[in-house]
Amino acid sequence: EGERAVDIRKLRKETGLITYDPGFVNTGSCCSRVTFINGEEGILRYRGYDIEDLAEKCEFIDVAYLLVHGALPTEDEHRKFSRLLNEHSMIHEDMRHHFSFYPERAHPMAVLSAMVVSLSTFYPELEEGWDEETDITVCRLLSKLRTIAAFSYKKFIGEPIVQPKAGLKYTENFLNMMFNSPVSEFEVDPIIARALNKLLILHADHEQNCSASVVRMVGSAEANLYASISAGICALWGPLHGGANQHVIEMLEYIRSEENGDVSKVLERAKDKSDPFRMMGFGHRVYKAYDPRARVAKRICREVLNHLGHEDPLLDIAVELEQAALEDEYFKERNLYPNVDFYTGLTYRAIGIPTNMFTVMFAIGRIPGWIAQWQEMREDPHSRIGRPRQVYIGPTSDETSPIQM
Ligand code: ACO
Repeated sequence: EGERAVDIRKLRKETGLITYDPGFVNTGSCCSRVTFINGEEGILRYRGYDIEDLAEKCEFIDVAYLLVHGALPTEDEHRKFSRLLNEHSMIHEDMRHHFSFYPERAHPMAVLSAMVVSLSTFYPELEEGWDEETDITVCRLLSKLRTIAAFSYKKFIGEPIVQPKAGLKYTENFLNMMFNSPVSEFEVDPIIARALNKLLILHADHEQNCSASVVRMVGSAEANLYASISAGICALWGPLHGGANQHVIEMLEYIRSEENGDVSKVLERAKDKSDPFRMMGFGHRVYKAYDPRARVAKRICREVLNHLGHEDPLLDIAVELEQAALEDEYFKERNLYPNVDFYTGLTYRAIGIPTNMFTVMFAIGRIPGWIAQWQEMREDPHSRIGRPRQVYIGPTSDETSPIQM
């Protein structure tokens, strides 16, 4: 692998040619052992394990461990990891005060990114190499991100925060911090906790997507892990990336309220090249088949709605929109299928998570992948600072006149 990378550099030196590849459609930026995708067949594996299998049989923290450490944990390792997650779930009191200074309507992704980079001011930077201290940093990130997300929700609704509780599992603890309050008798529903656990697993990594590439790029300058992940959160926020889950629900809401549930106008708009509108939650750079995560997410959505006895008209609209798109020539020709964001928002909504927090849920799930990618990049002897080239098309010096001061 290394040899090949060196050859490419040699080729550039000898020929002076560079690759012009907008959007890096066909550029391999690294060699990786973390995640495998076969976009033609709709296959996704973390460290060799199929995504559906992992979602069915594992806890999110085991998958996090798998991504970061390269193997599923033994019972002892699971216990130790759980203990560390519990021990590092609180956020520093001084940092908690930061919440008071954000406007009430601040987007939770902005708050999350700012809070994660703030963690680097409270905790020392990572040393080189991967040791016990690093495990603590991993647990800090995994655990505190979830706490920050729940605290920002409480701030948003003007309720007192609920601290993390020892003894609760990862997703249960999150649900408790979100929905417990002094005036409600809240008990975590194990079926909801399990559904959330699965959704987090589906989001845990996806190789060199926009946010993972940002995490690697920032980390390649030897910026610390918190700074790199904070940048990744900003990339994820974009509506063409993780932000799509929020926009899917807004699109479905629009169809319900403005189009009386009729999906045809939205479908037509998505096909109109003079209109910048795109069908949210549809299409993918790599998948040219059904996104395997969308299949599981659709199943989870039905299970949760059935369990809660909840009928959501937006689910019927989503199913109808999907069906209409799958039968439409435009979508068929371009291999456009639902992606992971199409059905996840409906489940979050049923659980009671507000729409502007959907992308935060994605970020909580994606933390292990970002850490694994960052760590792999730092340990790779062939990795160098990320520094793409460009094709300059601006004015030449012949086209400008001397500056008269
Ligand atoms: N609606 C309508 N047309 C679409 C859509 C869509 N959602 N997605 C792609 N197309 C069309 C493009 O216009 C293009 O048509 P053309 O060949 O006539 O020019 C063709 O399909 C190929 O699409 P590209 O733009 O080349 O796809 P690209 O790989 O650059 O973009 C992306 C992928 C950003 C995901 C795109 O499909 C999209 O915008 N989807 C909607 C947003 C979304 O759901 N994002 C979440 C992705 S998953 C994730 O990040 C977690």
